[in-house]
Amino acid sequence: MTAILGISAYYHDSAAALVVDGEIVAAAQEERFTRIKHDHGFPGNAIEYCLEEAGLTADDLDYVGFYDKPFLKFERLLETYLAFAPVGFRSFLKAMPLWLNQKLHLPREIRRELGGGFTKRIVFTEHHESHAASAFYPSPFEDAAIMTLDGVGEWATASFGTGSGNRIELSHELRFPHSLGLLYSAFTYFTGFRVNSGEYKLMGLAPYGEPKYTDLILENLLDLRADGSFRLNLEYFNYCQGLTMTSKRFDRLFDGPPRQPESPLGQREMDLAASIQKVTEEILMRMVRHVHSATGMSNLCLAGGVALNCVGNGRILREGPFDRVWIQPAAGDAGGALGVALFVWHQLLGSQREVVEPDAQHGSLLGPSFEDTSIASILDATGAVYHHFTDPELLDDRLVELLEDEKVVGLFQGRMEFGPRALGCRSIIGDARSRAMQSVMNLKIKYRESFRPFAPIVLAERAAEYFDMAGDTDSPYMLVVSPVAPDQQLPVDRGSAIGLDKLKVVRSKIPAVTHVDYSARVQTVDRVRNPRLHRLMTRFDEKTGCPVLINTSFNVRGEPIVCTPEDAYHCFMGTDMDVLVLENTILLKSEQPMSEIDRENYLSQFELD
Ligand SMILES: [Fe+2]
Repeated sequence: MTAILGISAYYHDSAAALVVDGEIVAAAQEERFTRIKHDHGFPGNAIEYCLEEAGLTADDLDYVGFYDKPFLKFERLLETYLAFAPVGFRSFLKAMPLWLNQKLHLPREIRRELGGGFTKRIVFTEHHESHAASAFYPSPFEDAAIMTLDGVGEWATASFGTGSGNRIELSHELRFPHSLGLLYSAFTYFTGFRVNSGEYKLMGLAPYGEPKYTDLILENLLDLRADGSFRLNLEYFNYCQGLTMTSKRFDRLFDGPPRQPESPLGQREMDLAASIQKVTEEILMRMVRHVHSATGMSNLCLAGGVALNCVGNGRILREGPFDRVWIQPAAGDAGGALGVALFVWHQLLGSQREVVEPDAQHGSLLGPSFEDTSIASILDATGAVYHHFTDPELLDDRLVELLEDEKVVGLFQGRMEFGPRALGCRSIIGDARSRAMQSVMNLKIKYRESFRPFAPIVLAERAAEYFDMAGDTDSPYMLVVSPVAPDQQLPVDRGSAIGLDKLKVVRSKIPAVTHVDYSARVQTVDRVRNPRLHRLMTRFDEKTGCPVLINTSFNVRGEPIVCTPEDAYHCFMGTDMDVLVLENTILLKSEQPMSEIDRENYLSQFELD
C-alpha cells in the first residue's frame, strides 16, 4: 500500500487530500472544520479527518506533497519588492513575518504538525503543476490538453500543456504580474467585493449591466495578443507595490474611486462587471483556441481559480474548439492538495493510470459523513424534535410534499463536497417553480445580497429539455452556465424593471433559478455520482412533472458550508429554514422548542464575505 497526503496551505483555502494506491480516498477544506471561511492556516483538522477516513496514522504515510514551492514564491516576492522599491516596502513588510516564521521552514513545520510520526519524503510541486494534475488525473480522458489559470502561484499565472496516460507536461506559461485572475480580482476589489471570494458575485452581477467599458479596458489596461496572452499596463494596478489592487489612475479611467463594500450597487458597478466578464471571456476564448491548435488535442482539462468562472466555461463548451471539457470541481487552491497527491502517485512514482467514466472524482463527495445513530444522540442532547424514517422512500415522499408546499429544506446527506460548491449533500433546496423562492432564500435564509440568483439542479436525463447544454449535457459539478431552453422561457416586457429589480421579473417556468439574462448555473444529477439525490428528484418529477430544484450551499453569508450535524442544526435554527434533513431524519422548524440559540448571535459570528 502507498499512501500519499497532499496539502495546500498558507495562501487561501487550505485543504488536505489522501490518495491510497492511486484512489482518491478523502479530501476536505480546512474552513469546514475551523468554521473560518477560506481558512489559510495549516490544515490540521482536514488532515486528521483524511487519515481517520482511511484508518491510517501519520506514520503510515509514504509521501507528503505540498502544492507549491515556497522558495520560488519567496523569490517572486523579493524580486517584485526590489522592482518596485521603495514603494513596495509596505506590502513586503506585511508579507514578511509569515514567510520568516512558517513558509521557509515548511518541511520542519509539516513534520511538527504531523506529530513527529512522519519521517519520509516531502515533495513540493509547482503551483500550476498541482492545478494541472488535479485537472487531468481524475478526468475521463486518456489524452488531453491542460490549461490552468489563476491569480498567481510562484511566478506562473496561467499555463498550458498536455496530459497523456500517467504523465503531464506543462510547456507554456504566462508570468506574474500579468494575470487574468488578478485582473478579474482588481475589478472585484474596485466594485466593492472581497478579493479571493467576491469574484463569484461580480460574475453574478454582470448580466445586470452593459459591457460599455470593454473597449476602455482593452485599450488601456492590457495588451492582448491573438493567442490570448497579454501584458497588463501596471500603471493602473497597485498589487505589486501597495496594499490595494488598483491605482488612482484606474479610478480616473472608470469615473471615480472604488465602491465602498456594502454600499449600494450602482449602474457603474453593473457595467464594469459586464465589461470585465466580456474581456475575460475574450481572453479565455483566444487561449483555448490557441491551446487547441498548439496541442492538437480534442479534450481539455481546466483548473485554477479562473476555471470557477462558469459563464466563461459555458462559452468554452458551447463555442470552443474542444470536443469534451473536464473541469476540476475544487478548481481553486484547495484542489492543489489533491493535485500534488496524484502528481506524486503518477508522475513521480510512475504508477499506471486507469481512465474511468464518468471520472475518478467520485462526484467530489470526498468529505466526512455521519451515521443515523450519532445524529440521534446529537439531537437528543439538544432537545430537538425529529422524525426518523427507516424506509428512505417514505422519507423522500414526505420531502416531496414539503417541497411542493414551498418549504425551504436543508439537506444533509452523505459525504461532504470537496470544492467550493454544495452539490446536494450539504445543500439548501427548494421548488424552482416558486415565484417567491428567490427572495425568500436570499433574504430570510442566506442573508445575502438580493441580486444573486440561485442555481438549478436537474435530473441529468432531462437536462436538455430545460437548458441549452450544447453537446455534452453532463455538468455534475455546477461549473457551467447555460441558457434556459427557449420553450421554458416566458415573454417579458423588457422595459418593466430596471437595475437590481430585474431579478424579480418572472422570466421562465423555473423563475427561482433563471438569471436576468435567462442563464442558469446548471448542476446535472445522475444516478452514478449521487444516487440518493437522483432518487429524491425522480420522486419530485413523478409527482410534479418538474425535474428541477433550486440548490444553494448550506450556510449563511460569510459562513463556511456546514460540515457536521451540529453545524447544520445551528444553521437551521439560526435562519428561517423550514425543514432539516439529517440522513434519514426530518426536523420541522414548527415543532422545535424555542431555541436558546440567539439568531443575532449566530449570524454575527461570521464576517461578511
Ligand atoms: Fe492557484
